Amino acid sequence: MPALPVYPTAEPFLPAKLTLPALRDASKTCQGCDLYKCATQTVFGEGPADARVMFVGEQPGDQEDQAGKPFVGPSGAMLDQALDKVGIDRGEVYVTNAVKHFKFEQRGKRRIHAKPSARQIAACKPWLKAEVEIIRPDVIVALGATAAQSMLGPQFRVTQQRGQPLRDTTWAPCVIATVHPSSLLRAPDEAARREAVAAFERDLRAVKKEMDALKGAGKRAPQAARGAAAHPGTATREAAEKSRTRSPQRRGRKAAESAQGKLF
Ligand code: URA
Ligand code: SF4
Repeated sequence: MPALPVYPTAEPFLPAKLTLPALRDASKTCQGCDLYKCATQTVFGEGPADARVMFVGEQPGDQEDQAGKPFVGPSGAMLDQALDKVGIDRGEVYVTNAVKHFKFEQRGKRRIHAKPSARQIAACKPWLKAEVEIIRPDVIVALGATAAQSMLGPQFRVTQQRGQPLRDTTWAPCVIATVHPSSLLRAPDEAARREAVAAFERDLRAVKKEMDALKGAGKRAPQAARGAAAHPGTATREAAEKSRTRSPQRRGRKAAESAQGKLF
């Protein structure tokens, strides 16, 4: 029988036991795509396991790569400010990224952010799905196009649908997409920046409203194995566990097959 092609995926690196500490630990040695080779370290998500809202960014930046923590640089500061403004407590928020390693181009001494490919986004998605499955938030916020692509598919347009509560995904009772906070830092002048910040805060107010209305519904919702649509046959926790206890090679192949069939 000819060997099956191997597609990049983090799936074989996921631990059998689904807890945040186990995931975080296992993610340190992920080689699910080529991005682990140049970055300093895996930057895993951070926040309480019972968080009711989860913010998903694109990938760690230069400072996050060095610190090993998400959103500690300039984008994180923008996010913190906006959360404070709309009354969402940062201590109750889980923050993570669609891609867990920093992708960059070296220009002299500087490392310039590079956009992750669709393949790298798909490869890293098992980590995101596992985080969501453990936390089961009421609301997931996709910050920018990469996070939106990972969770909502390549057709989704943040510019057209930002701030709108989406209720028909497999991820959470409510998903809301908005721009990435780094876009606020790139506004061409002060007036544009103020406008961009106001629009971002409007979207976060919609997030707060949903959190207040949902009151923990995410923890009870039947979508336990989030993103299960990408893995037909692993719709329950037990099934998901079982598939994880197969041999790494087999799991890798299975995951590759489903990743091939569907990206989101
Ligand atoms: N930008 C992101 O998308 N994530 C981070 O963690 C930092 C910057
Ligand atoms: Fe693994 Fe994601 Fe890092 Fe790729 S970017 S090596 S899939 S953790």
